[in-house]
Amino acid sequence: MNRYETMQFRRTGKSGLKLPAISLGLWNNFGHLDDFETGREIVRTAFDLGITHFDLANNYGPPPGSAEENFGKMLGGELAGHRDELVISSKAGYRMWAGPYGEWGSRKYLLSSLDQSLQRMNLDYVDIFYSHRFDPETPLEETMSALDAAVRAGKALYVGISSYNPEKTAEAARILRELGTPCLIHQPSYSILNRGIERELLPVLQEQGMGCIAFCPLDQGVLTSKYLGGIPEGSRADKAHGTLNAKNLSEEKLAKVQKLNDIAQSRGQSLAQMALAWVLRHQGMTSALIGASKPAQVIDCVGALQNLEFSDQELSQIDAVAPLA
Ligand SMILES: NC(=O)c1ccc[n+]([C@@H]2O[C@H](COP(=O)([O-])OP(=O)(O)OC[C@H]3O[C@@H](n4cnc5c(N)ncnc54)[C@H](OP(=O)(O)O)[C@@H]3O)[C@@H](O)[C@H]2O)c1
Repeated sequence: MNRYETMQFRRTGKSGLKLPAISLGLWNNFGHLDDFETGREIVRTAFDLGITHFDLANNYGPPPGSAEENFGKMLGGELAGHRDELVISSKAGYRMWAGPYGEWGSRKYLLSSLDQSLQRMNLDYVDIFYSHRFDPETPLEETMSALDAAVRAGKALYVGISSYNPEKTAEAARILRELGTPCLIHQPSYSILNRGIERELLPVLQEQGMGCIAFCPLDQGVLTSKYLGGIPEGSRADKAHGTLNAKNLSEEKLAKVQKLNDIAQSRGQSLAQMALAWVLRHQGMTSALIGASKPAQVIDCVGALQNLEFSDQELSQIDAVAPLA
């Protein structure tokens, strides 16, 4: 198996941990409503290609929790014996159970949610535990001290934050540093069609020595050629329990996708490959966090690593289609 020869590994900020340039998330396609065997094949294909990082959260499914349960089964199956080669993350922040302790950022919620995640995956620890969203009503010190406590209890090796704004990111990083548990990584949404993090968040991450893993780098599949001829059967926009609303596929957006597809073709890449290479063009971008509904998509995505270079002309062509707002 030559998985470690094909994959590129990048250092996460100033930490000792390297992540694969492409990571796989289990938000869609891995719940109890999905086909377990297909999910298993996707994960096996990913690991064979050197994708050592699998991203989960308490609520991934549907139903919530079922992606962790399914991933736990895989850890006891084809991934058995490979635990020390894997970086497994989970998160808590969104609504997971009824009542005031089932969401947001209290110590009460975060630590009990982590225990539940570990139980579902049958793990002693996760590699990265995230606060999934900033909680405006809980002191940031409390949320961050819960992350620190998870590490001290041996239930997480590293901690991260997701979708925090630049100001709260800097504050969270400072609190964690003072607690003695550096903030490893930020997980924001980022793609050619969603460039919000470029001006402020990326410089903050650089300053703080944190890594960055971009979620939805393919804009949930919109940044591929699949929607150019309508909504294909079985695609995320077609699925009743998918998270992509067909309303997001406006004519204006698809016209941009068509132009981007032309640029990708002139580079000899699929649009998915160009979209991933583009996200990975930043020095501080540790990994692009993809999703997949088929093993072939993972193979296509990892093919992006064969051409990560952009000429100035290509970058301006992309800027012209999808400018930095
Ligand atoms: N922190 C957060 O708040 C947050 C939020 C959202 C996501 N995430 C993380 O980010 C991960 C990725 O999100 P995402 O699934 O939306 O990412 P994405 O990579 O933008 O979209 C994945 C979808 O794109 C399509 N696709 C992937 N590769 C393709 C290819 N080569 N050719 C054609 N189509 C392709 C598939 O859609 P079809 O199903 O249509 O085939 C796939 O399900 C999640 O699993 C989760 O771990 C985190």
